[in-house]
Amino acid sequence: MDNLNVSVLGYGMMGVIRSLAYRGVVGYFKNAPIQPVLGYASCWNDGEKAMAERDGWKAIVGPDASKEVIAKADTDYVDICLPNAAHYAAAMAAFDAGKHVFCEKPLSANLEQGREMADKADACKGQLNSVNFIYRRVPANVYARKLARSGKFGRLIEARMFYNQGWGWGADGSWRFEKSHGGGAAGDLGSHSLDMLYYITGLRPIELCAMQATHVKQRKWKKTFASQLSNMGAGQQAQDDFEIRDCDVDDAMRVMFTLDDNSAIGTLSVTRNACGSENQNGYELRFEKGTIKFCFDEMNYLEVFDKTAEDPQLWGWSKICTNRAVYGNYFDFADGHMIGYRDITVYGILENLRAIDALNKGVAYESESPIATFRDAFNVQRTLAACDKSIAERSWVKLEDIQ
Ligand SMILES: NC(=O)c1ccc[n+]([C@@H]2O[C@H](COP(=O)([O-])OP(=O)(O)OC[C@H]3O[C@@H](n4cnc5c(N)ncnc54)[C@H](O)[C@@H]3O)[C@@H](O)[C@H]2O)c1
Repeated sequence: MDNLNVSVLGYGMMGVIRSLAYRGVVGYFKNAPIQPVLGYASCWNDGEKAMAERDGWKAIVGPDASKEVIAKADTDYVDICLPNAAHYAAAMAAFDAGKHVFCEKPLSANLEQGREMADKADACKGQLNSVNFIYRRVPANVYARKLARSGKFGRLIEARMFYNQGWGWGADGSWRFEKSHGGGAAGDLGSHSLDMLYYITGLRPIELCAMQATHVKQRKWKKTFASQLSNMGAGQQAQDDFEIRDCDVDDAMRVMFTLDDNSAIGTLSVTRNACGSENQNGYELRFEKGTIKFCFDEMNYLEVFDKTAEDPQLWGWSKICTNRAVYGNYFDFADGHMIGYRDITVYGILENLRAIDALNKGVAYESESPIATFRDAFNVQRTLAACDKSIAERSWVKLEDIQ
């Protein structure tokens, strides 16, 4: 079996989670076509370096650490876990260096960079381009996709997408609250929901109207640039190292949209100020003859209302536990056991390895739950850009006007 030398850029929350994900593949998945080997981690400071070394990476520290990691001859694959606005430079450099590229979502901090990234990815034919829309790896969503696309329930009528988190109120400032770093709830959470809508139904908004709110006008920021960027690893700071600054991003967004040929309508609701909802990512998809409901709070289950029987007495809801191999090909071991967020991070890596294996063999990559490409993620950016335009102009916006 081939080995793949993987390196990670950024060692904050997602960098640390990736250590677990790569290790989760090694040895455990008999059907993993390639084995990842931990290589370099680019770190912002000594705190992150210590964590990366603890987790088995060769850590490189400093503002140019990402460039150094990309340039290493023994880096085959670059995993970008940097703040949103830093994705562009890292991804472009990694493609130019001939590496496989896995990038965190949202793809970019603005539309122009997203377009360049997708064009570059398309041009680099033998290299992986994959974006971490991780909820594609939830077996319940894999099954929802199969059901929705089977045609069993007929045409989609309505899509209600939502992603509520509750940590925003009272949180200190970080790159997540700065426009220049690509912060804001719309890109952070809305990107996941928009990808999920497309992943399951194959449909994207064609016209939309959006509104947003900044509930928290000011936050307490750490004064130093480096520590502002990361939620982790910068260590404790004295109280007087903080300053109060204005926030320039949305805390919440609401969108109404039409889908496809105007046959279906939908809404998207995202917020980081939903008390009691820590990671409530979900949807309700209403078809002519059935409804599919999912919420990450109960990620092992998919709720399905089936109205296809001739006898109306047989119409009804099922709450389907999707923890068996029949619902997806990620249960190489522990078939039948419940899974969690950490498991889907492992499946994300496994899916990337399958895609790279297909590239290496020169065959088409086929999966019942395909990776999100840079092009897919750019289309999400287009919808987010349409939301920005709608909010700025207080009007409906057609997606055909956002290229
Ligand atoms: N797919 C998911 O489920 C999911 C979940 C959380 C975060 N994310 C995404 O992952 C990415 C990272 O988020 P995080 O939560 O790990 O953030 P974080 O703040 O915890 O970590 C960011 C890392 O990047 C470093 N860094 C910051 N600015 C840098 C710069 N300009 N140059 C080099 N290094 C820099 C930080 O020091 C830190 O190592 C973001 O794009 C975020 O949207 C995805």
